Amino acid sequence: MNGNLFLRTAVLLLLVGVCFGIRMGLTQDFTYAPAHAHLNLVGGVLMFLAGLFYNGQSQVSARAMGVHYVVQLAGAILLPIGIVGSIARTAWAGPVVGAGALLTLLALLIFTWRVFRAPARTGVL
Ligand code: HEM
Repeated sequence: MNGNLFLRTAVLLLLVGVCFGIRMGLTQDFTYAPAHAHLNLVGGVLMFLAGLFYNGQSQVSARAMGVHYVVQLAGAILLPIGIVGSIARTAWAGPVVGAGALLTLLALLIFTWRVFRAPARTGVL
């Protein structure tokens, strides 16, 4: 495994998020704009940054990258779904948004750890 899985997932999530944005523009209904923003930023931008980073890191194991990937992806999916539920005032929103937020935080902690442990010069930094 290398950073390409992060990169490919990021652009797919961005495609969904951008279509969501276009739909908001066409319908002039911005109710769920925060969900669109979090899908694009957590799923698209953060995921893409991790992919770029990992493609410059040959010493990170596939297993370590895989753990980061699963946690990041789960957070990027649950967080916007939970935000939609929260705006719609559904009963299930609390646990979903909470799980999405904690997974996103955990993914960021893993990323922080990897960035601090990275050698001084890589292909990206
Ligand atoms: C074709 C592409 C896109 C379209 C048509 C679109 C459309 C929209 C619309 C209609 C809104 C709501 C504006 C309002 O509330 O007045 C919005 C908000 C926002 N969008 Fe997008 N968007 C696009 C791409 C992106 C991308 C790529 C990102 C980030 C990587 C992004 C991040 C945001 C953010 C942060 C907000 C503010 C959310 C909020 O106020 O709660 N958007 N977008």
